[in-house]
Amino acid sequence: MITSLFRNATIVTPESKDSPLSGKDQGKVNTISHGAIYCRNGLIEKIGEEGYVLEGLSFRDVDMEIDCQGCCLIPGFVDPHTHICFAARREKEFALRLAGTPYLDILKAGGGILSSVQAVKEASEEELFQTTLENVLSALSFGTTTIEIKSGYGLETETELKMLRVIRRIQQETPLDVAITFMGAHAIPEEYKEAPDTFVNILTNEMIPAVAEQGIAEFCDVFCEEGVFTIEQSRKILQAAQKYGLKSRIHADEVHDTGGAGLAAELQTVSAEHLLAASEENLKAMAQGKVIANLLPATAYSLRKPYAPARRMIELDVPVALATDCNPGSCFTESMPFVFGLAVMNMNMTVEEALVASTINAAWSLGMEDRIGSLTVGKQADFLLLDGESPAILAYHAGVSPVISVYKKGILVA
Ligand code: NIG
Ligand code: FE
Repeated sequence: MITSLFRNATIVTPESKDSPLSGKDQGKVNTISHGAIYCRNGLIEKIGEEGYVLEGLSFRDVDMEIDCQGCCLIPGFVDPHTHICFAARREKEFALRLAGTPYLDILKAGGGILSSVQAVKEASEEELFQTTLENVLSALSFGTTTIEIKSGYGLETETELKMLRVIRRIQQETPLDVAITFMGAHAIPEEYKEAPDTFVNILTNEMIPAVAEQGIAEFCDVFCEEGVFTIEQSRKILQAAQKYGLKSRIHADEVHDTGGAGLAAELQTVSAEHLLAASEENLKAMAQGKVIANLLPATAYSLRKPYAPARRMIELDVPVALATDCNPGSCFTESMPFVFGLAVMNMNMTVEEALVASTINAAWSLGMEDRIGSLTVGKQADFLLLDGESPAILAYHAGVSPVISVYKKGILVA
């Protein structure tokens, strides 16, 4: 039995409710100025004003005591959308994009995601694990204590399963909680360029059943986009996934409005991702269906696109979450502080809204809201100490990480 006491902290945490926070609740946080948390075996046993938490505790009850020196303490970040399992960076492609070649044109010419597919095929499983581990541990040092990781650089059963095994090893061998997503529908392989429906049939008849049979993924994701998967194909893939017990999410309206947000509402996916070009009508449908909008402002930054209309989504009552999208192509960052800063400065979210989006709403989008994402009795003691007096430091101190220390289940991990 391990116990620890964190004292003298400014605790800021989203409220825990029975649904994702949206609309006026999107920014609902509680602040405890002279706060303390008492943890036992990785869980929060007591939290509140220091006087209240210390009441009845003797020195025998505390194995480890940490004086937070007034620093701000927030829940660990939950990053609910990454492609952080990849074998090689794509710096040459970045140079092409800087010179003006559009992201989707690079994919159309056989590069982009398809070049990552080649690299993953060539890497051994151990090599893929090592590169992924390096990036995941970096994310942890930036305060990400829970992460979603997608496959999708295999595009055939064997290599997709190789990726999923690597992601499962990350789940087993690092301190992070990891949600695993199958994304075999990430691009159309070259050999099916002229017959994309044949590939869709392989996805629904072979790949999804194989993944489901191994019980190795919890979610299925599709890149619904012009030149990638159409609305009809995306619907077919996600319906097959749902039939096999996988929960669904969707890359929707990242570059063009193809109606992905509407499909998310129709199929009741847990979340819709990106939404830079989503229509007002489909955002309303998402609000109605309580589909979470996973916004990825670092991708808009890296693609030099207008940011997703976060303010409008909050007005419409769509619950908003934030994620990095960490991948070697459209957005290479594992830093949630960077994403947080962009959300506040460029999407005009308030600090409180961004905090809710990067913790409890992100946890909801992974189905983990009952144990992570906010600081309340019985939840995991996953939290961060910040070099500042409020979470505003994440936007204010730009270009650095104000995360001083990272605790996962009560233990210092970074
Ligand atoms: O979310 N859009 C599709 N997938 C990623 C990019 C993956 C890549 O370029 O390797 C995204 O932007
Ligand atoms: Fe993505």
